[in-house]
Amino acid sequence: MEITVTVNGQQHRRSIEPRVLLAYFLRDELSLTGTHLGCDTSNCGACVVWLDGVPVKSCTVLAAMADGKEVRTVESLAQNGKLDPVQQGFIRCHGAQCGFCTPGMLMTARWLLDRDPNPSEERIREAISGQLCRCTGYENIVRAVRWAAEHERRDEVTS
Ligand code: FES
Ligand code: FES
Repeated sequence: MEITVTVNGQQHRRSIEPRVLLAYFLRDELSLTGTHLGCDTSNCGACVVWLDGVPVKSCTVLAAMADGKEVRTVESLAQNGKLDPVQQGFIRCHGAQCGFCTPGMLMTARWLLDRDPNPSEERIREAISGQLCRCTGYENIVRAVRWAAEHERRDEVTS
């Protein structure tokens, strides 16, 4: 089947198998390998992208379901050579160890801060509750999101 999907602002038309998952479409058809696949049980959340502005586990969505829609992936976060505040927060607060969960965490964090510029720790933990990190114990991830929120509000984020 033919689908047209706008990914990170760029429209792509492809002929695909109807059974192809969005995560594989992004990685294999568009070479956007920032979206990770960390499980085969829809538990880990490493594959989170935005579909029409809503975070989804892209391993649970058929690429066909994205036809005519807008997808945003982790590759869109850095703009003009400048990291997004959530990326800067993860670096400064050591929010990543192996980094496998990080793309999904970043996309959820960006979504949260777009809606709540000053989220409580509880709200951050709730937002990332659908995602697993095997390394950090989540403490530094929460700190990273808080750092991004604080510095974004004060507009002190640098390149
Ligand atoms: S790859 Fe683990 S939830 Fe999608
Ligand atoms: S940093 Fe390794 S799984 Fe999260």
